[in-house]
Amino acid sequence: MFNAAPIQAANKSELYDELAEQARGLLHGERDRIANAANFAALVYHALPDLNWAGFYFYDGVELVVGPFQGKPACVRIALGKGVCGTAATTRQTQVVADVDAFPGHIPCDSASRSEVVVPLYDGERLIGVWDVDSPRLARFDEADRAGMERLAGIFVESLRAA
Ligand code: SME
Repeated sequence: MFNAAPIQAANKSELYDELAEQARGLLHGERDRIANAANFAALVYHALPDLNWAGFYFYDGVELVVGPFQGKPACVRIALGKGVCGTAATTRQTQVVADVDAFPGHIPCDSASRSEVVVPLYDGERLIGVWDVDSPRLARFDEADRAGMERLAGIFVESLRAA
């Protein structure tokens, strides 16, 4: 049984180091996508301050469909190229949005969300989906969060491949 120890970190870089280690431990030895996505979302949601939503949208071959998450119920389907999630998926670039109201085409799911980061998930050329984290605080996410979230998302993608 995995037990997430309380994280003590002096700065964001240490926090993400610790979280990456916990994520690796949590997903180790399991390849099931739903299981790993559910545990991953729960781990991150409870470890980081000022989040109101953390979860996945998976590509079903046509569009993005909501997957395991923590937070309030969310919009189910997002077309590629639409919203922050669809933009991350098509541009293959992590989107760090300081103010969601200033992002053209942002799709509001939880009206509490003020800022957001979305990491595209690719296995090589194959789109898996996106990892999406929202905050009720404006400009909650900076470059350290972008790097940290990309690293964490990489651990998730890797878990699907490993035996
Ligand atoms: N805001 C996202 C939609 C998903 S929710 O934030 C959970 C977007 O614009 O794509």
